[in-house]
Amino acid sequence: MRSIEGISMAAAARAAAPLAALLLLLTIAAVPPPAEAHVQIGAYNKTCPQAEDIVLKEMTAILAKSPNLAGPVLRLFSVDCFVGGCEGSILLDSTASNTAEKDSPLNQGVGGYQVVDAIKAKLEAACPGVVSCADTLALAARDSVRLTKGPFIPLPTGRRDGNRSVAADVAPNSPPPGATIADIIALFANKFNLTAKDLAVLSGAHTIGRARCSTVSLRLYNLGGRNGASDPTLDGNYTATLRGQCKPGDNATLVDLDPPTPTTFDTDYYTLVAGNRGLLSTDAALLLDPATSAYVAAQANATSPDQFFADFAASFVAMSRLGVLTHHKGEIRQVCSKVNQPAPASTNAGAAAGRSYRTAGLALITTLAVALLI
Ligand code: HEM
Ligand SMILES: *[C@@H]1O[C@H](CO)[C@@H](O)[C@H](O)[C@H]1NC(C)=O
Ligand SMILES: *[C@@H]1O[C@H](CO)[C@@H](O)[C@H](O)[C@H]1NC(C)=O
Ligand SMILES: *[C@@H]1O[C@H](CO)[C@@H](O)[C@H](O)[C@H]1NC(C)=O
Ligand SMILES: *[C@@H]1O[C@H](CO)[C@@H](O)[C@H](O)[C@H]1NC(C)=O
Ligand SMILES: *[C@@H]1O[C@H](CO)[C@@H](O)[C@H](O)[C@H]1NC(C)=O
Ligand SMILES: *[C@@H]1O[C@H](CO)[C@@H](O)[C@H](O)[C@H]1NC(C)=O
Repeated sequence: MRSIEGISMAAAARAAAPLAALLLLLTIAAVPPPAEAHVQIGAYNKTCPQAEDIVLKEMTAILAKSPNLAGPVLRLFSVDCFVGGCEGSILLDSTASNTAEKDSPLNQGVGGYQVVDAIKAKLEAACPGVVSCADTLALAARDSVRLTKGPFIPLPTGRRDGNRSVAADVAPNSPPPGATIADIIALFANKFNLTAKDLAVLSGAHTIGRARCSTVSLRLYNLGGRNGASDPTLDGNYTATLRGQCKPGDNATLVDLDPPTPTTFDTDYYTLVAGNRGLLSTDAALLLDPATSAYVAAQANATSPDQFFADFAASFVAMSRLGVLTHHKGEIRQVCSKVNQPAPASTNAGAAAGRSYRTAGLALITTLAVALLI
């Protein structure tokens, strides 16, 4: 009896040691990570206080020279956020073994990459390895809105850069060809947790910028695959004007989304859509759902842009939070078109913290394994 008891005591003690170690491990694992786990206003206050000023200064200079770059930069940000989150993956180049998002046929008309690269170079010069490409793009897009006389949007920062950029990810996160308004609302709800109102509000970004004729040609010449058929829901005079700008077979010419004021962020877009002059079929489709059409009507009649500006700021921030990488996830890319080289080259504090955290975890697991063996 005694000896049996003795054996079971010893067995219990042996069992308890790893259990205690395991509990210790679980406790340590549950301790909140040292860095901030969310995006927040002014994330670079301490590490690069001039970051937002640098972006604004560069964007001001770039748009003064080329006002038409406001549209591409704003769109580039939405295209980044909608595919895998706002983590800069749209900026990555394809490699020998991977076709990146930017080379998806769906992103052929997307541009503004050189703007982000130029701003990032200035940020790297001022604060090496601190400001992510994802935040560089987010802040540049925010400034596209401000510098075209839209609202100033206080924007949470602290996004880090992802390393997955796969062309095949684009289609499942984009409205399918021939998407109905119900399809788009469902996509927004299911993939992005954004509402029909967010859709109506964010579509207001089409108050600036341009589309390629290839995007519009179906509505002008080939609706439903019928040769010569134009879209009867498009204002007839506008169809005639557009046919003058976009000749059959011309894919490349760019036409303004908001011809009256193509570089001013205002409520004209809604006046156009309400008057059957929305350029894209997805713009026109906003009239086909009660929630989105109510928003179009309200803004088309608005006497001030204030409500649209407040709504846009809120929906833009909601979009800007999609799939963000924070804390030890992701990296701060040195060059936006390429992931950092492994180990010695990446010297930023966040990556170093992530590494030491992982190293500590590994050491602990090794200790535990040794304890179990003993
Ligand atoms: C369901 C939602 C959306 C759809 C279907 C859509 C679709 C499009 C399309 C087809 C173009 C023209 C592309 C071309 O012909 O090259 C375009 C341009 C544009 N989009 Fe959107 N878009 C959507 C949401 C957004 C959002 C959320 C933003 C920004 C907040 C945005 C900003 C822009 C801008 C600024 C342009 C002009 C780009 C330029 O000047 O190069 N769009 N969009
Ligand atoms: C950064 O500074 C701004 C302005 O003073 C403040 O609103 C914001 O909360 C600060 N953010 C952080 C993370 O310190
Ligand atoms: C991408 O990031 C993941 C974790 O975030 C990492 O495991 C992987 O090695 C990275 N791949 C490349 C090519 O850097
Ligand atoms: C979805 O968005 C709402 C705000 O519109 C937010 O309260 C909620 O937490 C979000 N859900 C998820 C899963 O992100
Ligand atoms: C086109 O414009 C003319 C003159 O402004 C107007 O009389 C006509 O009704 C318009 N046609 C359509 C289809 O809107
Ligand atoms: C325009 O695009 C269509 C469809 O992608 C293609 O068949 C056609 O050859 C293009 N036309 C020109 C002039 O590039
Ligand atoms: C907007 O104005 C039009 C007439 O210009 C009117 O038919 C419509 O009911 C108004 N819509 C709203 C929401 O006030």
